Amino acid sequence: MQYLLEQLEQDHQRILRMMYLLSKEINQLTGLNKGTANCDRILDILDYIQVYPEVWHHPTEDVLFQQLLTKDHINSSAVQKLLNEHPRLEALSTQLALIYSEFREADIRPSLRVLQLSRHYCSKQIAHIHDERNIFDAISARFNEQDWQIVNGILRENPVNQGDLKQIDYICRSDQLNQNHILTSRGLH
Ligand SMILES: [Fe+2]
Ligand SMILES: [Fe+2]
Repeated sequence: MQYLLEQLEQDHQRILRMMYLLSKEINQLTGLNKGTANCDRILDILDYIQVYPEVWHHPTEDVLFQQLLTKDHINSSAVQKLLNEHPRLEALSTQLALIYSEFREADIRPSLRVLQLSRHYCSKQIAHIHDERNIFDAISARFNEQDWQIVNGILRENPVNQGDLKQIDYICRSDQLNQNHILTSRGLH
């Protein structure tokens, strides 16, 4: 079941790349970078984050983190903090997607407050991923065969794990976004 951690790590790399792209778009909107404001691209990134990471990534981590909490001598407040952040990050994604859709409809530039919220969203996502590194290490070190069996049993009940279409969809969309940002993909590999 170590492949689960590898998959989650790969997701982190993709999400970090998306946050880098989003920061670039936000900087363009604030005039720090040259370029034209593009709410479409921001909506693409948010849409992407709302598809696979929130459908598979967070629910999978939730199961792993809950199992880790059954172990002794765990930094349970750090694990609980990450669990609590999942619905908050998801709510922020939804909120930002709604706001940017309205800006696109009205064809106006986002306000300073929205740009600040967008930056806050990027930093939260990045900090969340960094905090998870230690927890993944703890899972890798502490889980035994029985833990993995329990996790596997719970994950099998999630309908998303009964087919991999969403995963393929996610990877294709990630690749498409990256092709539009050649410099970014090169810089981050
Ligand atoms: Fe997470
Ligand atoms: Fe994660």
